[in-house]
Amino acid sequence: MKPTHRPAWPYPRVIAHRGGGALAPENTLAALDKGAQFGMTMVEFDAKLSHDGRPFLLHDDRVERTSNGHGAAAAMTYAELAALDAGTWFDPVFAGETMPTLEAVAHRCRVLGLAANVELKPCPGTDSATGLRVARETAHLWAEVQPPPLLSSFSVEALEAARIAAPDLPRGLLLDDIPENWLEQARRLECVSLHANHRKLSPALVTEILAAGLWLMVYTVNQPERALELKQWGVDAICTDRIDLIGPHFLD
Ligand code: G3P
Ligand code: MG
Repeated sequence: MKPTHRPAWPYPRVIAHRGGGALAPENTLAALDKGAQFGMTMVEFDAKLSHDGRPFLLHDDRVERTSNGHGAAAAMTYAELAALDAGTWFDPVFAGETMPTLEAVAHRCRVLGLAANVELKPCPGTDSATGLRVARETAHLWAEVQPPPLLSSFSVEALEAARIAAPDLPRGLLLDDIPENWLEQARRLECVSLHANHRKLSPALVTEILAAGLWLMVYTVNQPERALELKQWGVDAICTDRIDLIGPHFLD
């Protein structure tokens, strides 16, 4: 089969995971600052909805691991979430950090010149609503920004809602185990990229993904030697926690 034409990957090749990787409390404004301090030009972060429908940053369904609060994020209003300390758990030097709104994140990315990979990370049962609202707000907040924010999700429902809400924003399908029908799924959701767990890839599968005309980003790659191996396999970009070891130009 003739390989499908693949335009050049339009984003930086190294992406800071959760803002500042392992060097700052994840998914906070301080994490974005840390990423920029280390010269990163693109960040990944996790966006979900508060009980009152506000897009904000948090990885888990619950707030315990990354804040001084307790409970399910989906049951809390943004005002309740914003009252929590999301920095001290990581290091007291980050006391006072909060779970930022997507709006504050868009502003900080603009100021710092960071391109964005917005991961749609729905709380249970809110896949479509999260895809719709986060995509719509991302389109509004990053209007005219180039390259445009790249939306991604493990949730097919969230990606489908994002496709309808903000059809012009590029989408990436996040995969842990790579299912047989990865190409059919990516085509149905009109995705431009696969975002794959690097541990589940082989050189042959990478070749197949690229030949299908998709871009390939891999997560979470924390060893420089592994990053170089994946580059040899042909991946377009890596997402890393170790921005201190794998700098912004490591793959150039
Ligand atoms: O987008 C790559 C990576 O962030 C996916 O996994 O669990 O860290 O959000 P997770
Ligand atoms: Mg993520």
